[in-house]
Amino acid sequence: MEQYVIKGGNPLVGDVEIGGAKNAALPILAASIMTNESVYIDNLPDVRDINVLLTAMSNIGVTVKREDRHKVMLNAGGINSLIVEEETLKKIRASYYLVGALLGKYKYAEVVLPGGCDIGSRAIDQHIKGFRSLGATVTIEHGMIKASAEHLTGAHIYMDVVSVGATINVMMAATMAEGVTIIENSAKEPHVVDLANFLNSMGANIKGAGTDVIRIKGVSKLHGTNYTIIPDQIEAGTYMFAAAVTKGDITVKNIIPKHLESITAKLLEIGCEVEETDDCIRVVASRQLQHTHVKTLPYPGFPTDMQPQITVALALAKGTSIVTESIFENRFKYVDELTRMGANIKVEGNTAIIDGVGRYTGASISAPDLRAGAALVIAALAADGFTTVDDIKYIERGYEDFHVKLHNLGAQIELVQTEKDIQKFKMKVG
Ligand code: EPZ
Repeated sequence: MEQYVIKGGNPLVGDVEIGGAKNAALPILAASIMTNESVYIDNLPDVRDINVLLTAMSNIGVTVKREDRHKVMLNAGGINSLIVEEETLKKIRASYYLVGALLGKYKYAEVVLPGGCDIGSRAIDQHIKGFRSLGATVTIEHGMIKASAEHLTGAHIYMDVVSVGATINVMMAATMAEGVTIIENSAKEPHVVDLANFLNSMGANIKGAGTDVIRIKGVSKLHGTNYTIIPDQIEAGTYMFAAAVTKGDITVKNIIPKHLESITAKLLEIGCEVEETDDCIRVVASRQLQHTHVKTLPYPGFPTDMQPQITVALALAKGTSIVTESIFENRFKYVDELTRMGANIKVEGNTAIIDGVGRYTGASISAPDLRAGAALVIAALAADGFTTVDDIKYIERGYEDFHVKLHNLGAQIELVQTEKDIQKFKMKVG
C-alpha cells in the first residue's frame, strides 16, 4: 500500500507552480461532449478524478487524445451510449456533470450516482429540481440517475441552497434548452465562471456567471474550441498554508490573486507576510502564528476546501481559535488524527474550538479525504520526528505530484510501498 513517510521540521522555502483547477476541469471536460466538433483543453491537472472522468467518457465513445500531460483533445462525434455505468465513476462527485451535459445535448442521460469525499450527506435535490424545471423527467433507480425530456425549455429557477454542482449542472442543461433560463441564488465560485466562459467559447449565451443571477439564452448548437483552464485556487491555498505551518517562505506561481483573497486575508490576520504580484503570491511566516476565528462560506467567503488547512495552522497558533464549518456537516473527521499528533481541538457540532499548542509530534495517521489528507501532510511537515500517512489515494484525487512539489520546497517526504522503504528513508534522513 502506498504511503507518505515524512520527517518534519524543515521550513518549506521556494517557488511552486500551480496547476489547472480540478473543480473547473471536471465540468469543462463533461461539457465538451456537447459538441460534435473537437475541443482542445489546456492546463488540465493530471490527477486521479480527472483521469477517471476521461476514462468514463472514452468508454461511451468520446475520442480522448492526450496531446501532452496537461493538454487533451476531445471529440464526442462518435458517442455511442448515453448510459454511463462505469463503476470507478461512482468514486467521484463530478460523475453527475455528465447528466447535465448529456441531457442538454441529447435530452437523455443515465449516469451512476456520484460518490466523492465523505464530508457530509451531499444531497442532489437542487440538481434534480433544476432539471425538472427545464422539463426533464428525473428518477433515481438501481444506483443510477436517469433524466430525459422531449424538449428542454428555459425556466426561472431559484436555488434553495447555494450549490456549486447544481449551478453548474443546470447551466449545462440550459445551454441548449429553448428560450431563456434564469438561475437565482447561483454559486459564484471561479470554477462556475470558468465553465460559463468555456461554454460561451463554444457558442453558448451565458451572462452573469460570478454573480448570484445567471441568465442563459439557449442555443441550438455548440462548436469546437480551444480553452485554457484557470489555476487551482485550493492547490495554491494549500501551499500558502504550508508556508504558514512550517514557518516557511513560499511563492505560489501561475495563480489569479483575486481568487485567493479570503485565504490571503486570513494569513495576514494570523501574522504572515503576504506579497502579491500579477500572477504570484509570496507567503512568509517568520513570526509566531496568532489565533483567529473563521467560518467557511460560499465564494467569495473562506472556502470549505481550505478548512482543514487553516485548522492545522491555528492548532499551532497562540491562543484560542474557532473554526465554523457551514457548508458540509461532516468535515472535521481529520481532527482525531491531528489530536494524535498533539493538537488540542474540541469539536462541537459544526464548530472546532482550537487551543494552540507549541508543536506537533509525528505519528501514524490516515488521510480521511482529499483536503484533510493534504492538511495532515502539512502538519506532519511541521512535526517533530517521523509521520506515515496512509490512504494517500484521496490526496492523489486532487493534487498533482504533491510529494514531488513539497520535496522541491525542501520537505523530507517520500512515497513508499513497504516497511522496508520506510526504514530506508529513516536511515537516509537520519
Ligand atoms: C463542490 O462540491 C466541490 N466539488 C467541493 O470540492 C467543494 O467542497 C464544494 O463544491 C463547495 O465549494 C467539485 O467541484 C467536484 P455544493 P459540490 O453542491 O458541488 C448542499 C474538493 O475537495 N446541497 O456546492 O458537491 C450540500 O449538501 C471537493 O475538491 C444540497 O443541499 O458542493 C452542501 O451542504 C470536496 N442540495 C452545500 O449544498 C443539492 O442539490 C454545498 O454543496 C446540492 C448541494
